[in-house]
Amino acid sequence: MSDTIGTDTPYTALGFYHKISQLRADTWNALKRDLGKLVNLQDEAQSRNLVKAVDIKLTRLEIIEDYHAFPSKEDFRHLWHLFNRQEYSLLEKVVKRLVRAMISESYRRRQVDLSETDADAEDLETLDALAQLRRGHPTSNSSSQPYFEVLIVDAMSLQEEEVVREAFHNLRRPEDKFVYDVVTVRSFEDALIAILVNPNIQACLIRYEFPYKSKYNLSALRNYLEGISEVELESKSEAERSILLSSMIREIRPEIDQFLVTSGDVEVTASRDIRHFNRIFYRETDYIEQHHTILRAIDNRFRTPFFDALREYSRKPTGVFHAMPISRGKSITRSHWAGQMIDFYGINIFLAETSATSGGLDSLLQPYGPIKKAQEYAARAFGSRQSYFVTNGTSTANKIVVQALVKPRDIVLVDRDCHKSHHYGMVLSGAHVAYLDSYPLNDYSMYGAVPLREIKKTLLEYKRSGQLDKVKMLLLTNCTFDGVVYNVRRVMEECLAIKPDLVFLWDEAWFAFATFNPTYRPRTAMHAARYLRDRYRSEEYAAEYAAWKEEFDQLDPNDDATWLDRPLLPDPESVRVRTYATHSTHKTLTSLRQGSMIHVYDQDYRQKVEAPFHEAYMTHTSTSPNYQILASLDVGRMQAEMEGFELVHSQVEAALSLREQLYTNPLLNKYFEVLKNSDLVPAEFRQSGVETYYDPNAGWNKMEEAWAQDEFVVDPTRITLSIGKTGIDGDAFKNDYLMNQYGIQINKTSRNTVLFMTNIGTTRGAIAYLLDVLIKLAKSFDRRWEESSRPERKIIEHQVKSLTHDLPPLPDFSRFHDAFRPHVDAGTPDGDIRRAYFLSYDEENTEYLRFDNGELQRAMNAGRDVVSASFVIPYPPGFPVLVPGQVISEEILYFLQALDVTEIHGYRPELGLIVFTEEALLATSECSE
Ligand SMILES: Cc1ncc(COP(=O)(O)O)c(C=O)c1O
Repeated sequence: MSDTIGTDTPYTALGFYHKISQLRADTWNALKRDLGKLVNLQDEAQSRNLVKAVDIKLTRLEIIEDYHAFPSKEDFRHLWHLFNRQEYSLLEKVVKRLVRAMISESYRRRQVDLSETDADAEDLETLDALAQLRRGHPTSNSSSQPYFEVLIVDAMSLQEEEVVREAFHNLRRPEDKFVYDVVTVRSFEDALIAILVNPNIQACLIRYEFPYKSKYNLSALRNYLEGISEVELESKSEAERSILLSSMIREIRPEIDQFLVTSGDVEVTASRDIRHFNRIFYRETDYIEQHHTILRAIDNRFRTPFFDALREYSRKPTGVFHAMPISRGKSITRSHWAGQMIDFYGINIFLAETSATSGGLDSLLQPYGPIKKAQEYAARAFGSRQSYFVTNGTSTANKIVVQALVKPRDIVLVDRDCHKSHHYGMVLSGAHVAYLDSYPLNDYSMYGAVPLREIKKTLLEYKRSGQLDKVKMLLLTNCTFDGVVYNVRRVMEECLAIKPDLVFLWDEAWFAFATFNPTYRPRTAMHAARYLRDRYRSEEYAAEYAAWKEEFDQLDPNDDATWLDRPLLPDPESVRVRTYATHSTHKTLTSLRQGSMIHVYDQDYRQKVEAPFHEAYMTHTSTSPNYQILASLDVGRMQAEMEGFELVHSQVEAALSLREQLYTNPLLNKYFEVLKNSDLVPAEFRQSGVETYYDPNAGWNKMEEAWAQDEFVVDPTRITLSIGKTGIDGDAFKNDYLMNQYGIQINKTSRNTVLFMTNIGTTRGAIAYLLDVLIKLAKSFDRRWEESSRPERKIIEHQVKSLTHDLPPLPDFSRFHDAFRPHVDAGTPDGDIRRAYFLSYDEENTEYLRFDNGELQRAMNAGRDVVSASFVIPYPPGFPVLVPGQVISEEILYFLQALDVTEIHGYRPELGLIVFTEEALLATSECSE
């Protein structure tokens, strides 16, 4: 499929960096095919063309393989040697072997030497390939020594390079926990390219004496190298250059263990800022020391303390005189009826089912052992200061955070389209809620996210009304279900300029994976928090702030434009970075369902939050947490730290392939339109001006640009397809077409869109299947049209028009009724949602009004404020269009009438909407006065 994609574009530009691993595999396969043809060809002209094609492919591959341990530089010399001597049959044989070794990954288990014909080695490789054919995937690393690569940055000669590689090879021992190979690069830029294109690199030895410039043109590095001039770098001392390189590696792939090898004065080097290095070696230090240090560092990430403890526990013979008859499978192994559970799950899961918190295990509620360690490792992986495991999903994680930080009557600014757990969290905490509106995408019946201007405006309202001290928290969803991602740094920075101790809760239920990709990571809450904390402590920031303040103080503070039309900077003396993120780890990384995490980066956590956080955690956590979920979180963290970069990279690759096909296939275009950046993010929020990340000539070069600058960007791994032109609505398309006909599961739909999400488990095969299905569906719609009579065609046209033109505008949050507005006199919008929620518990306070027979409309026309007594949540869109205490507006009523969904929580069509009686509202207003 992607055989042709990009392989004709200059590889050296690495503009296709986002698709590099697919291109690598595709180019090797294409080379194998070309050689296969070449050796059987008689026609001279055709042969000449093929020889040229082979030359081009080899040249391209050599660049990529320069950054990989296998095939080695020696192997490549061998390939060129055969090519130059026109020994094409032999070359074909070697390339075939090489491709087979790459697919079966046998180079991870044993050294593949292509330069000589080693019959035994070839037999083993054939066995690997056959075994893989049988299983359908390469051997998992669980049974063998996991493999990785060590990057050495040093301007060595080819001979020196071979010697070093040999030296490390010779240290391999069968009892080592891991096996590794060595890749060498000779310049600063090459080191960065290597860690971007080669996910196997897990450790890096930076030596002195390497130049800055690569011999290749590295446009993929543009964003990473911004602000660094070549001249400046060349003039840096060797030590400074190494330190700068290490901090850039840290920024791109923080998981990589880095070591400095110096020929200079170790003590002097050690006194510099070398925080990113695990250790410094003197050049003379022997390889054995380096070898063991590297293995140890990798083991530190590979360890899974709780999973290990649970496995260990499950092997111990124990007598159970406590709860859980299912523990050790006891209640089912002897059962005459329930043994099928063992048949299905196997025995291990039951051996690991226990209520014990001792004997090597731990207590989630008061961790002191392996759970504590596992959580500390999670903090390291996600860049937080503290991380906590949650076994009941982000729904619970959100409530824990809100309860830990928000007291009754604190004001919380909440994105109105957020997940329902937040609205319930507000009820539980007794917060006064100020809802913020997202920008609507009326053409697709979807919402975007909350513009920064809207947030600043609301904060300013509170400032001017003297209520700012009551505003405690800003709660936003990053990224939204549809993939709209905030500029988290900027939002926090500007809000902190108005309220320096504001707490941020970023619901990143869908964004745990983002930590493991360098383009995504800066837009995660934890990364942004750490970045801002460092920024506010720097001298450069103090100067930047002083200059900004001088200018700001000249402006009129009563003019809205002063605050809203220019970027604001917080005072470094008073600002506190207080950031929380919740992750549904199970949604985007390896974890059993409900496995979630809370990540904390709060400068005031220890003094102000730790105790209430503990209580909130106790409130919402079961005393019988599921150990399998905890173990899976531990393994999921380990996997993300070891191969998250690779997995997320391939997820992005898979999504980009799908997008490319959807953009360019004429049959698909007839019925489906894949929404681009510019469809989901209005121009005013795209400072970069980037409309789409994809350019057929330059590849996916634009993505970084948009992600670095824009107020909002779209995560390309979520693919929203507009299907209005099919005449079928989102819900029917999801159920009747995708699921029932083809077994394709999706979750989110709007009236005229469906959302396809890729994840770290999405394969190229799955993408090919989806494309195949969409093509079949497009053909079936063609047939439907051809075979329809004129009246039937009219019906189809009417359906298409209804889905593409007659779209009810999406309503904003109307307002809380004055009876529930504690600061009505100050004119601020917040409402006491808890009061409204519990008022409805007394039946006499509420009544039902139907809107299908005009009853509700009549009440509104007579001038009555009709106020909802419950949450009303249609699916889709899946968030409340009404909350308790909210006045029903004309727009909301119109929207509810126009909705053609069947599932509306909080609404019973035969009764109508539950609303407060006028008497109840009056009594409430009076008692609040
Ligand atoms: C934005 C958001 N937050 C929180 C949740 C709840 O997460 P969980 O299913 O882990 O409880 C969801 C679920 O879809 C969500 O979309």
